[in-house]
Amino acid sequence: MLITGETSIYCIIGYPILHSLSPIIHNIGFADNGLNSVYVPFALKPEELDAGMKGLKALGVRGMSVTVPLKELVFPYMDETDEYARMTGAVNTVLYEDGKARGFNSDVVGVKYSLELLGCSPGGGRAVVLGAGGAARAVVAAFVSHGFREIVILNRSEERAGALRDFFTPKAPAAVFVAGPLDEATAGRYLSGAEVLVNTTSVGMYPKVDACPVPAGCIPPGIKVLDAIYRPRETKLLAAARGKGCRTLCGLDWLVHQGIVAFNLWTGKGLDREKAKAVLERHFA
Ligand code: ATR
Repeated sequence: MLITGETSIYCIIGYPILHSLSPIIHNIGFADNGLNSVYVPFALKPEELDAGMKGLKALGVRGMSVTVPLKELVFPYMDETDEYARMTGAVNTVLYEDGKARGFNSDVVGVKYSLELLGCSPGGGRAVVLGAGGAARAVVAAFVSHGFREIVILNRSEERAGALRDFFTPKAPAAVFVAGPLDEATAGRYLSGAEVLVNTTSVGMYPKVDACPVPAGCIPPGIKVLDAIYRPRETKLLAAARGKGCRTLCGLDWLVHQGIVAFNLWTGKGLDREKAKAVLERHFA
């Protein structure tokens, strides 16, 4: 592409940033839409955030993505936030418009989209998330927004699961929240009768592909399973669930969809979903 005096700058901030896939997706989107825009990665440590945020605004950056460990830390820099950013206390997409920083959380939209692909209809009974980090936070917000009545958070560190439960309880009075340890007995108890299971732990991610966050015996037939992991596309958890006839989905649609939502917020235009997925798959290969 030809960089000119009129090129609009978009970026992603986080630390580390080396392995981010967002520049690939968004730069293809700019080219496909004939936009004079470029998207670049900036490694920004939390202790540099204040200088970074002031600098990016002063330099006229048009929009940015925010990743680990900055999603919660950028929140106070926003002039406006959307419902999902407020629900999670985390921002992953920023649009600079009319001198204001507008913060969004398109991760939650990506999870909701994945739940729809799995065939979860609005409302519902019990939903279970494994993990209690940033990804689990987006999943719980999506569960609340979807209307699940009982939301179960299981995590290796039970204390962290309890903290996530306590964070969401006042925000969603209609839902019942449960926090527990990620052990076989607890998983078996809550997965039986659940409509959907979402794994947000890193267990099963390349290169340790033989690991599974719960024993296969805990997965009841009929439960829908989403794994945030996209490398490999079929984790041991998803293979076990598929073997029982369950509907399964990896994290690739979630990843691509949150990017599509961000791209649309910035440009008003669309990204080619299938092309983005194919490009990422080739990249992993
Ligand atoms: P993310 O933003 O992707 O959610 P994170 O905040 O680092 O990342 O959270 C990673 C999650 O994977 C945590 O829930 C972590 O459990 P702990 O809170 O107990 O650390 C979970 N996790 C990582 N390795 C794990 C393992 N070997 N077994 C079980 N859970 C694991």
